[in-house]
Amino acid sequence: MRLFLCVVCLAVLLVAPLSAFVRAESLPGPVRHAYSFEQLSNSRYSVHTGFDDSLPQQVMVNVLWAMSRAPGAGSEYREFYVATPNNVYRYDPASYSLTVHRAGDFRYNSGSAFEVGVAASRPEEAGMAIQAGLLAGAAFRGSGVRGQGSGADVVSCPMQWAADNAAAGWKPNHPIRMVDVFGRAASVPLDTLCVAQSSDSTLPLPHVVGPDTFESVLADLHQDSSFSPVGLSLENVSQLCWAAYGVTPHLTYNRRQGVTVPTATGSYYLTGRIYVVGEDGVERYHNRGSGVGGQGSGVRMSPGVNLATRDHRLERVAAGDRRPELRGASARIPGSAPTYFVVCVPDTAADQVMEEAGFAGFQLLAQARALGLSGFLVVPLSRAERNAIASALSLPSGHVPALVFACGEAATSTADNERDSGAVRIVRAQPAIRRGQLRVEYLLSRAGDVRVEVFDMLGRPVRLLLDEQQSSGYHAATWDGTGEAGARLKRGTYLVVIISGGAVAKHKVTLG
Ligand SMILES: Cc1cc2nc3c(=O)[nH]c(=O)nc-3n(C[C@H](O)[C@H](O)[C@H](O)COP(=O)(O)O)c2cc1C
Repeated sequence: MRLFLCVVCLAVLLVAPLSAFVRAESLPGPVRHAYSFEQLSNSRYSVHTGFDDSLPQQVMVNVLWAMSRAPGAGSEYREFYVATPNNVYRYDPASYSLTVHRAGDFRYNSGSAFEVGVAASRPEEAGMAIQAGLLAGAAFRGSGVRGQGSGADVVSCPMQWAADNAAAGWKPNHPIRMVDVFGRAASVPLDTLCVAQSSDSTLPLPHVVGPDTFESVLADLHQDSSFSPVGLSLENVSQLCWAAYGVTPHLTYNRRQGVTVPTATGSYYLTGRIYVVGEDGVERYHNRGSGVGGQGSGVRMSPGVNLATRDHRLERVAAGDRRPELRGASARIPGSAPTYFVVCVPDTAADQVMEEAGFAGFQLLAQARALGLSGFLVVPLSRAERNAIASALSLPSGHVPALVFACGEAATSTADNERDSGAVRIVRAQPAIRRGQLRVEYLLSRAGDVRVEVFDMLGRPVRLLLDEQQSSGYHAATWDGTGEAGARLKRGTYLVVIISGGAVAKHKVTLG
């Protein structure tokens, strides 16, 4: 992997306009921003019209690089094209270079700065690349004050119309499936507001800001199918579900609740169709549809009825361990993963639907990497595999498996364990418990033994909360303010201490 450019180089590149770029050329490497995969996923949205073509070249460089980092999905070919006001180019990810494919201006939108197109025999593969690219572009928007413009103003929209235009005008070697159109327009800053809410407390809330930059997650994006048997924490399941298809603060052009991936005309084909298969049973993920007319009425609607509501919950659809049946449905499904995510669609014949499955597939893999988990995508699925998976999980009609994501803790080498075993960081905890429970959420960078204990301010242990093996990623410990004997402790300040592999994280809490 090439080294990222220094800040000085970045400043020079940011001012180089795209219009100066006229012939085949070697491109610089991607630059790294300060934003996490989670924050970019939380902040993405499509801007359909009204932009101009004045973006710096570096935006295109990062977008093309990100697209090339997305995983394959069994396509016989994968080609990246980019149309600028000057030419249509073909991008070679191995040499970071562009060659003129067709001279002249063949953009769909005369106001766009550049339009990137993917030719791939599998729509899922095109979808994964498009999703990677649009997040990479969003990283240029920058942070700022919520509700105000950021000044960076890099926007994009995946467009079927632009793909149709590319198919006709770009003369690609293979058919272009999808095009993402980029330009400059007023945009809102990257968002750190979490709007997901769990109407039935089946899932903890996701973290919409993560520890690593998106570019570093992408640079290290790879698949791994050897897993340790440690199960995923509920926090990690929550995070993965949200990354794949969770709600975000934006509304779509037709006033629907935005999610982490785009969807043609706000159709949200995956709503209620992402299944989580673990030791205890089969559950499906809902991002909306809780309560008539909105949140909180307590009346369940079928998923997808009200596309303006928000939720973040799991619905148990089968009890008992169905993993043996799932693994038996295809020899390509890794047998040792503790958890599987099965992304289903209503119709495997529709390209836009399968592209959406690809968006979610990329999100699952990138989130797993950001959490330090191992993940492996089984995609594409044959008709026989789809049928076998649907019957293994007793899926209803209209829920057709499009891909399986196997996920769990990496089976790591001793060297890896010695490197940074057990590093622990508290990511969310309230400062006081008045009524109810303290919840301390923490992030482990490696699996290992974890001990969470409460001490009084004289350093005396008062309550052991947990002492067990845990996977990497997000976890939570709760404390109800009682001591070992079960009686409520006296008011005052206490220290929650989390120890893992020699690393220690502490949280001070007031018991009121
Ligand atoms: C496969 C696909 C094709 C799309 N085609 C178009 C299009 O031709 N024109 C357009 O304006 N938007 C198009 N969009 C953008 C969607 O309308 C947009 O993603 C949707 O309204 C959801 O809004 P959001 O992306 O802001 O969440 C397309 C999106 C996808 C995923």
